[in-house]
Amino acid sequence: MKISVFGLGYVGVVTAGCLSDKGHEIIGVDVQSSKIESLNQGQSPIVEPELDLLIQKAHQHALLSATDDSEKAILNSDLSLICVGTPSNDAGGLDLRYVREVSSQIAEVLAQKSSTGVPHYLVYRSTMLPGSTQALVDEYFHELQERNSIEVFFLPEFLRESTAVADFKNPSLSVIGSRDGLPIPDAVSRIIESDSTTPSRVVNWNTAEMIKYACNAFHATKVTFANEMGRLGKHFKIDSRAVMDLLCQDDRLNLSPYYLRPGNPFGGSCLPKDLRALIDSSRRHGLSLPMSENLLISNQVHLDDLIRRIERSGEKEIILLGLSFKNNTDDLRESSMVEVAQFLLGRGYTLRIYDPHLNVARLVGSNKRVLESKMPHLAAVLIEDPRKAIGERGLIVAAQKNLSMGELKDMVTEKHRILDVNGWDELKDLSATYEGFCW
Ligand SMILES: NC(=O)c1ccc[n+]([C@@H]2O[C@H](COP(=O)([O-])OP(=O)(O)OC[C@H]3O[C@@H](n4cnc5c(N)ncnc54)[C@H](O)[C@@H]3O)[C@@H](O)[C@H]2O)c1
Repeated sequence: MKISVFGLGYVGVVTAGCLSDKGHEIIGVDVQSSKIESLNQGQSPIVEPELDLLIQKAHQHALLSATDDSEKAILNSDLSLICVGTPSNDAGGLDLRYVREVSSQIAEVLAQKSSTGVPHYLVYRSTMLPGSTQALVDEYFHELQERNSIEVFFLPEFLRESTAVADFKNPSLSVIGSRDGLPIPDAVSRIIESDSTTPSRVVNWNTAEMIKYACNAFHATKVTFANEMGRLGKHFKIDSRAVMDLLCQDDRLNLSPYYLRPGNPFGGSCLPKDLRALIDSSRRHGLSLPMSENLLISNQVHLDDLIRRIERSGEKEIILLGLSFKNNTDDLRESSMVEVAQFLLGRGYTLRIYDPHLNVARLVGSNKRVLESKMPHLAAVLIEDPRKAIGERGLIVAAQKNLSMGELKDMVTEKHRILDVNGWDELKDLSATYEGFCW
């Protein structure tokens, strides 16, 4: 296939080299003459293992050339990959100036190109915030799209400099965004074929844009966490590398999808208490662990957001499914739903709570103390019979899966609304209006 690659930086040159290695014919476009010259001489303009050889080979087989003539490149290719830079502006925001420049050039050239019956495929590879592809399509390609002269995709790049060629051949993740997540044409599939056995996932533009930011934020979180544990370990004269090695051995709770589902704030008898102890100790020893210190703050912000969402629903009757800090326990310590219930009762809402694991008469110890201090009237709002708890109407805040779908189907009516806090997709099948808490 004939492919034009706009932007011959780290991403563009690696992409050009690797795609030419698969037999595609590449025209690279850049505004820097030095990069164009070096590619046209069969030399890589960047330092990257394995790349020199790929560029030399492509040059020898006449599969790679470079130019500053974007019109020529667009007219002589079936697919354009946009790999220009998306730097930070002075305020720290995303500067899309180069992407816009290239998009405008492509739109102008395609508007004059006589129709071949096959759309020109435009694939954004530059990292852009969610909504950017849609905004660019609206601004530059609306008409071209209407007359089937262009099809637009977003292909996030996950390569790491220094292992970029190996990462291209065997990507850790392969995701492509199409409009509304529609299936991608074969021509576009061909550019994402790799040696990896991991299948490519097709999602919509916004999801494909966000996954790149989610991955980078996660990587930064992991590095920062390891470094904070490192400083803490050093302070206590512990080899933090041994600690982190042990942490990584737990692939059930630590290196796994566990705890990586958006939903309920964390709570319970351990996480908040142990974080407080860690932070208190590090502060008293003059150690700064900003990320760890902000975990409880972030958790509180999440809980506040849940409460605002309940308030904004406008419903005055609220049904809480689950009060303890998670399902299948009666432990109420630092449960976020106790905070929610306390707030709602204080504001005069009609509250009904269904939690089959709680029996007020049998509560003892710290659980009893939580109730006496925070919800002395729990007995009046904790309802044993699920049908009575669900009632005829109201907002069901589903924090736990503590009823079966069969039971819910039988009880939930069109007068109910559901706020799903737990990621329980089947709730969408009920007759009530469904809203996900943070999805
Ligand atoms: N570098 C990485 O490891 C990496 C990894 C994943 C994603 N990304 C993303 O990929 C994009 C490109 O990153 P990079 O590191 O390759 O950038 P880079 O700065 O190395 O290269 C960008 C190139 O675009 C060229 N350019 C600017 N305006 C142009 C125009 N109008 N026409 C043609 N070329 C033009 C520049 O001259 C430059 O050569 C960015 O959005 C970046 O965030 C980078």
